[in-house]
Amino acid sequence: MSANNKSIQKQCADHREILHAGDEAETSQVRREPWIDVGACNQLAQKTVQQVFVGDTKIALTCKDGEFGAISGVCNHFGGPLAEGTLAGDYVVCPWHSWMYHRSTGRGEPGNEHDCVATYEVCVLDGRVLIRSEP
Ligand code: FES
Repeated sequence: MSANNKSIQKQCADHREILHAGDEAETSQVRREPWIDVGACNQLAQKTVQQVFVGDTKIALTCKDGEFGAISGVCNHFGGPLAEGTLAGDYVVCPWHSWMYHRSTGRGEPGNEHDCVATYEVCVLDGRVLIRSEP
């Protein structure tokens, strides 16, 4: 198993703990959260940045070192398609004018941290990538 796969499996295990730990009320609450299945983990882990949809919402899904991140797919500048950008370190680079957003926190690059895009929780469960539909 590669390092990436181990990390992905860890994300699975962590979320499984959330689903199965705690009292029944807590577990029920987690299960009511609007998690959306966006695809197979192994397939989505092949690209560093790609677009997925949660309902009508465009999401820039990233995968680095086996860890997924999800931020809005729409750039704050002029609405550029962040999912068509590239990953520079932990930052998604907009393909239009190169504004950058942290792939997990959504914050702008150093010096522009106040310029944020929405972030979404991601987890992997049973080989599927799930994104919470509310930022
Ligand atoms: S639209 Fe993204 S940097 Fe301009």
